[in-house]
Amino acid sequence: MRLQGKTALVTGSSGGIGRGIALRLAQEGADIVVAVHRHDDRADETAAAVQAAGRRAAVVAGDIGNVAQAFAVMDAAVRAMPGGIDILVNNAGVEVNAPFVAVTEADYDRVLDTNLKGPFFLTQRFVRQRLELGRGGKIINISSVHEELPFPHFTSYCASKGGLRMMMRNLAIELAASGITVNNIAPGAIETPINRRLMADAAKQQALLANIPLGRMGLPDDVAGVAAFLASADADYMTGATLFIDGGLLWNYAEQ
Ligand code: BGC
Repeated sequence: MRLQGKTALVTGSSGGIGRGIALRLAQEGADIVVAVHRHDDRADETAAAVQAAGRRAAVVAGDIGNVAQAFAVMDAAVRAMPGGIDILVNNAGVEVNAPFVAVTEADYDRVLDTNLKGPFFLTQRFVRQRLELGRGGKIINISSVHEELPFPHFTSYCASKGGLRMMMRNLAIELAASGITVNNIAPGAIETPINRRLMADAAKQQALLANIPLGRMGLPDDVAGVAAFLASADADYMTGATLFIDGGLLWNYAEQ
């Protein structure tokens, strides 16, 4: 167990990739704060699974796209876990599919607030806590292949993930002297609720699979194992990197 005695806060961990990461970090020995937008049964299920793995779990709810609530989420997490939070996983994310000319201000704000502003200020509060404790820490952002790869009709999403990439690189440099590492995981197409509509459309799914050299969509566990590695001492010398977990999607090119 690589994370014995550690605590982690995972945003968006009531399902999908976030739940997979929360469980994997717990299996590696970490106590977990399940941070969710709204406290519902799914959040409790994640917490129960963490407890079933023998670890402590707390559920904290709030809209991280609102700075005051993001700070309140981190403060509640620190109160719930004596000794503070060692590992922050910025996982919560949303996307809106719309042609560029149809994107509304509300769509744009929802995507940028959740995917970029939230991680920005939650991370700020996390870093303050680590500095006050005089201890290092680990920040892992769940970005996307679309921090690099264009995705027509998802321009706000791509802008948020590209922003997350530069936030990660900047903080990796700025926080290195404090012993805090910052890395991104960039998943490709993973079987999670964000892809529910795609998975229900056989033709769309076939077209997607044709772009994935490994020939299948990813599973939350494919991402979770990499998150556990980044959270562990095995990754102590690693900062400022993006790891693509995409079955080869990003660099796929073949002449027919
Ligand atoms: C998006 C999915 C998309 C996948 C591959 C992810 O970041 O959330 O909607 O299927 O990238 O393009």
